[in-house]
Formats: sequence, C-alpha cells, structure tokens
Amino acid sequence: MSLPSQELGTTKHLHRVHNFNAGPAALPLPVLEQAQSELLDYRSTGMSILEMSHRSPAFENLMLETEQDLRDLLGLPDEYKVLFLQGGATMQFAMLPMNLRPAGTSADYTVNGTWGKTALKDAQKLGATRLAGTSEATNFDRVPETLDLDPQAAYLHITSNETIHGVQWQSEPQPPQGVPLVCDISSDFLSRPIDVGKYAFLYAGAQKNAGPAGVTVVILREDLLERVPEGLPVMLDYRVQVAGGSMHNTPPTFSIYIVGLVFKWLKAEGGLAAIARRNREKAGLVYGAIDNSGGFYHGHAVPKDRSMMNVTFHLPDESLEKAFATQAENEGLVGLKGHRSVGGLRASLYNAVSLDSAQALAEFMVEFQRKNG
Ligand SMILES: Cc1ncc(COP(=O)(O)O)c(C=O)c1O
Repeated sequence: MSLPSQELGTTKHLHRVHNFNAGPAALPLPVLEQAQSELLDYRSTGMSILEMSHRSPAFENLMLETEQDLRDLLGLPDEYKVLFLQGGATMQFAMLPMNLRPAGTSADYTVNGTWGKTALKDAQKLGATRLAGTSEATNFDRVPETLDLDPQAAYLHITSNETIHGVQWQSEPQPPQGVPLVCDISSDFLSRPIDVGKYAFLYAGAQKNAGPAGVTVVILREDLLERVPEGLPVMLDYRVQVAGGSMHNTPPTFSIYIVGLVFKWLKAEGGLAAIARRNREKAGLVYGAIDNSGGFYHGHAVPKDRSMMNVTFHLPDESLEKAFATQAENEGLVGLKGHRSVGGLRASLYNAVSLDSAQALAEFMVEFQRKNG
C-alpha cells in the first residue's frame, strides 16, 4: 500500500498547531522530520527501526549513542546507571520501594500534587512510608512549606514538577545525611540543568520533554543496587535490568530511537542551560499575561513555586474557561484544557514548544481578556 503522493510531501506544507498538550506532547519538528526520512531505511540497513532486531549491531549502537548523549547532557558520572524501561513512570512508583526500601525500613515522601500522592499510595501498599511534607491543605498550590524528615529513611522521594497542579521545586530539598534523594522528574526532565550528584535515583516517563510514550528513563547510582532483595520478578528487578542493558526482554525500540533523536536535538540546541533560558522566557510570557491581567487570569500556583513547564490558571468562571479553550483551539492553540481534577486551563511549555507558541498564547490571552474582561 502506498500513501497518496500529496501526503508524502515535505513538512513545509503541513499544518502544525501550537501544541500545549501535557503529555504525550509536542516533539521537535527536526526530530519528526528525521524519523520520517529514516523510517523506511535506517542508516542504510535497508529496514526501518520498527523492523529491526534489538540484538542487531545497528540497534545496539543506537542504545550506546543514546545513553552517551544523555550522559553528556546531564554530565552524568560513571557511577550512575541508565535504564530505558517500560511501564511508565507509574511502574516506578512500585519498582522503587520494591527494590530500594529494604525490609524493616521506611521511606519518606513529599507530596505537592497528584503524582506524588499516587507514588506514596503505591509505596504504602508494599511497606512502610512516612509523609514527610504535603501541601494538600492548600490544594497543592505550592511545595510543602516544612518537611519532617526521617534520618533513618530508606530514601526521600520528591516530585520535581507536579504536572497537574503546575508546581515545581525551584531547588531540591536537602535530605538528612546518608538518605538518598529520589525524584520523579517526569515533567521537567532535561528542561534545565540539575546537580545530578544530589540525587541517587531519577525517573521520567519520556512523553513530555524527552520523546514519545512507551519508554521511561531511570538513572540510578550504582551503590543502590546492593539493596535490591532476592526473589523479585525479573522485569521488576533493577539488577536484572542493569545487567541486561535494558534489554532483558524486547525493549521499546522505536520509542528509544525517538528519545535518542531528542537528545541529539537538545545537544544541537546548546544543551540544558540554553534550553532552560528559552523555557524561562516562554514561561515568563505566559505568566506575564496572567500577572498583567488585573486578576482576570488567576494562577493556581503561588508565584514562588510556579512551574516553568505547566502553567495552570483559572478565569473568573467556568463558562469563560470553556470559551477560552474553544476559541483558542479555533485559532490553532490546542491542549489548553486543565486536568479534570483541577479544572481551569493548563499550558504545557515543554522543550519542544517554541517561543513563538508561547508568544501566540500570551497574545491570545490579552485579546481574549480585551473581548471578555
Ligand atoms: C510527574 C508525573 N509523574 C508520573 C506520571 C505518570 O506517568 P506515566 O503515564 O508514564 O506512568 C506523570 C504523567 O503525567 C507525571 O506527570
């Protein structure tokens, strides 16, 4: 079967919207174009990545390159292992305590949104946990104001960016001496430089900042593997996954390939410091429209903990919020409806969302207020 020829045209003829989806989300156009150009014949192998054995030299090479590019981007020292797993960030909510909370110990969790709360709940099902801090009383509009940390905790878990509430740790909390810091970094992964040495374990579903759905990046400090108990099912055992180079079973080859292209794109864009500058500028435009609206737009998060990735806001009433989302969509600004648990609007400004898109949204907000304010 072949596609009609006009559908095989180059992307310059395509209609691309301003995509503010929360995940799966916008991917860089050069990445999509490269995937398109290599789809039928990857690097002269005569086949698509989709058709290739994960044991082939071409794919093994791709895995090595992808890992190295990530190491370069993050400045990741050798003592950290990198895994590309399936099951989403949600699977890590269970794998993490199964592997890294030895019997008889407890793990600390901070909760500043839905995802941290969900991670805590899964950990509770499997053993002892402590709530080290929460902002639930103020509907997760900030990171916890105070933390009550267990110096004996197996680890301290944080969610660096709460995607639904739009709340982000501006810098990581300091765990007690010897307590490993563990982070669900799904929605701000690779959006800014981080001091990797402060973390013992990081995990991120790729489908926000790093690629498509289907692969989860896990970064873990090697010494943690000593804690992994015997007898875990193989797919849930970090030692097995490390020993197998993320290929104990068939890995999500195409998702890993796209993630690899995104890493190369990030490097070409100047790395994480350059990306962070652009992300700050984008978020500044949209928060600027909120702050200059005289209260017509009301941000969910308190300014000091605002997310650079997910801008959450309300309008004076629900009917205006509905009208906003509909009219925005008509003008090519899509994915702005807030998560059903919070309502309102949410603009996700991940790495692949351009400055132009943020500018277009800020202008739309001003115009919508002029007509409806
Ligand atoms: C911060 C955070 N953690 C975890 C998840 C769950 O990720 P997954 O769908 O990959 O399991 C999400 C999804 O949106 C998220 O935003």
